[in-house]
Amino acid sequence: MDMTFENTAEFARQLDATDPLASYREQFHFPSIKGKQVIYFTGNSLGLQPKRTAAYVEEIMEDWRQLAVEGHFYADKPWWDYHERLAAPLSKVVGAKPSEITVMNTLTVNLHLLMVSFYRPTKKRYKILCEEKAFPSDQYMFQSQIKFHGLDVSDTLVEVKKRDGEHYWRTEDILAKIDEVGDELALVLLGGVNYYNGQVFDMETITRAGKAVGAYVGWDLAHAVGNVELALHEWDADFAAWCSYKYMNSGPGNASGVYIHERYHGRTDIPRFEGWWGTKKETRFLMQPQFDPMENADAWQVSNAPVLALAPYLASLEMFEEVGMPALIAKRDLIVNYLEFILKEIDREVDSNFEIITPKERGTQLSVFLHGEGRTLFDYLMEHGVITDWREPNVIRLAPAPFYCSFEDMYRFGQILKKGIRET
Ligand SMILES: Cc1ncc(COP(=O)(O)O)c(C=O)c1O
Repeated sequence: MDMTFENTAEFARQLDATDPLASYREQFHFPSIKGKQVIYFTGNSLGLQPKRTAAYVEEIMEDWRQLAVEGHFYADKPWWDYHERLAAPLSKVVGAKPSEITVMNTLTVNLHLLMVSFYRPTKKRYKILCEEKAFPSDQYMFQSQIKFHGLDVSDTLVEVKKRDGEHYWRTEDILAKIDEVGDELALVLLGGVNYYNGQVFDMETITRAGKAVGAYVGWDLAHAVGNVELALHEWDADFAAWCSYKYMNSGPGNASGVYIHERYHGRTDIPRFEGWWGTKKETRFLMQPQFDPMENADAWQVSNAPVLALAPYLASLEMFEEVGMPALIAKRDLIVNYLEFILKEIDREVDSNFEIITPKERGTQLSVFLHGEGRTLFDYLMEHGVITDWREPNVIRLAPAPFYCSFEDMYRFGQILKKGIRET
């Protein structure tokens, strides 16, 4: 629905008054700067803490105090299979079956573990396709995996480039590259939403194309989960992993979710780095030497569940269950469109030049190139209560998370930005 926006406090407040998610803002802890609640744009980096999270963590602390080792089996939420509670709500967020989801470790670790299963280069089929300037951790992961297999990085890693003068990747260029590499392509692994420009890739089309040439297709969903609509099972993606600390609001450095398509469950011909939490629950404590895998994605589990990390994730997933992705996406579209409108208005009012480098295929992030403005403006924003982030050479990333950002925040941000440009 197209709406005629206005750059006024009244209009922004009106949008807040009709926002079905408005009450959730109160359910998060906001930092303050100089005694004033901040305008928080960095939910794409670290989501705010939900107020209910502390109770989930305290529940584990209390069980640990009262039950000690018995908490594994006799806590209200027993620790030994605590991770299983996350699978069903998370499956709805990423569009998968609960059996295809598990939560363990952290993101880069999980991508490495998944590459053990899904990157098995042969003499002929050994190349990996990703986007140029993928998130650095992914680049290091690719390079180290390639070296681990004794291959040459420059010959193995195929990076799809943006066109000269453009800030985004064209789907047709990715598809053309997939076709070009063809039967040499072992794996397609991209970020579902790019961390720098906020672009949402056409995951369905790219997955189909990668699989059509016989490659495995996986997704790093760090910036996609809880932000954009995902249908991993329907798209037939082979695997995916994501962190929980951005839009999933589960705390710094926290546990990572994993999706593995059900066709790989119970297969003995797929290599995997294994540990005791991947074995069948019924026989796990018989302490037998042979590995007897769980029949779902939990077979990829390695160590016993880090429940103190899982508790905040469970608290957050309860909120996603209450609200649902469609409502979050509806607010996301409205708030990001309003933010874009405000930016354009300010750009007209001041002697400056912003360029929104995020393409129209976007989630909640707008990356803004500040031509002529520099770090001083960024510092001004921070000092005046706007938490955003800076990416070299001259980009600020603004991600109004629909769970807790308000339309009035967008208006107020515009006013601070305008003053900042004039004063710095
Ligand atoms: C796209 C992407 N991939 C990987 C990572 C690395 O995550 P971790 O440090 O949890 O392994 C991040 C972290 O922000 C990311 O944004």
